[in-house]
Amino acid sequence: MKNWFSTKTASLTEGDIVKTLSDVAIDGKDIVSLGMVSAVSVKGDKVSFLVTISQQDVSRLAWLESACEKAVRTLDGVKSVSVVMTAETKTDEKGGTPMRPPPIKKAIWNTEPLPHVKKIIAVASGKGGVGKSTTSVNLAHALTKAGKRVGLLDADIYGPSLPRMMHLEGKPEVVEGRIIPIGAYGIACMSIGLLVGEESAIIWRGPQATKALAQMLRDVNWGTADTPLDVLLIDMPPGTGDIHLSLVQQVPVNGAIIVTTPQEVALADARKSADMFKKVNVPILGIIENMSGFAEPSTGKIHAIFGEGGGKKLAESSGSQLLGQVPIDITLREASDNGIRYEDRAKIYESIAKLIL
Ligand SMILES: Nc1ncnc2c1ncn2[C@@H]1O[C@H](COP(=O)(O)OP(=O)(O)OP(=O)(O)O)[C@@H](O)[C@H]1O
Ligand SMILES: [Mg+2]
Repeated sequence: MKNWFSTKTASLTEGDIVKTLSDVAIDGKDIVSLGMVSAVSVKGDKVSFLVTISQQDVSRLAWLESACEKAVRTLDGVKSVSVVMTAETKTDEKGGTPMRPPPIKKAIWNTEPLPHVKKIIAVASGKGGVGKSTTSVNLAHALTKAGKRVGLLDADIYGPSLPRMMHLEGKPEVVEGRIIPIGAYGIACMSIGLLVGEESAIIWRGPQATKALAQMLRDVNWGTADTPLDVLLIDMPPGTGDIHLSLVQQVPVNGAIIVTTPQEVALADARKSADMFKKVNVPILGIIENMSGFAEPSTGKIHAIFGEGGGKKLAESSGSQLLGQVPIDITLREASDNGIRYEDRAKIYESIAKLIL
């Protein structure tokens, strides 16, 4: 297996980046000593790192991102800089000061494909609750119906939903040190909720969570030589945090689908999500506008409850395509939340499935 340890690059090292970033200060204190910089990686002339900002400084996020980028660009041999900004939201036990995740000392970019997995697609969003899990599950069903062999990985370590949405029960078997995914409706499923219970993972901090993700990616028998997966769909947590960076560091992701609701306020966040994937060179396969109007059951009249046009706007600004618009549908909600396959009105997901493979 081929790994890239940034410190081994001939001209530019991780240390150079950290040293340069220690010249960037917020309120007179340098951001490295403050523990805000982590996951520094140098791959050839490409540099990436994560900057975690506290809630109270969140208004300065854009300024800080640009200051970091500018500082690193001054270094010889740097061609591209990916700064992934994340806002710290957790607080310590007393509910007081925000905790900063301990900086990750060595970032490893693993470009080795997952064995017997042909394609990896992340389903992401800026905001929570916009329908990533619903989309992942229904797309998995549609792809399976189209004859594809599909895997579904719940990367939402802090709020796993697949056990409920795919009606998964029991603990996965471990055979010769490898985890066997749980099959449901012909789909190979894995979720941290199956390994530790839906409640436990919530208290995990960054490094534990990224370790769990690594296990679910690399220690699971996703496919076999005879039965390779055509696609592994990854149901991401909301936002652009350490799980996102960790995913793209651990496996080559072929593309991302961004889910958004149609209103302006959701779009700003969805744009950040799209930008993050672009920065780490993961192509945006397209946008799905979810909760896109409500069809009155008696008259069929569409009410644009969350506004309209957002998905199209985002597709244009991110240089991708609008894959589909999924209306608010009570049957869909009931089916997804109860782990039942949604047959009746699944046409929209079938047409999206055709566009992504
Ligand atoms: N098109 C839709 N029509 C009706 N209900 C929907 C639709 N899409 C999603 N829902 C419902 O909205 C809720 C949130 O959806 P879901 O869990 O898929 O969002 P999410 O983006 O994965 O959330 P989180 O960020 O918490 O992971 C669920 O109860 C789901 O059934
Ligand atoms: Mg979810």
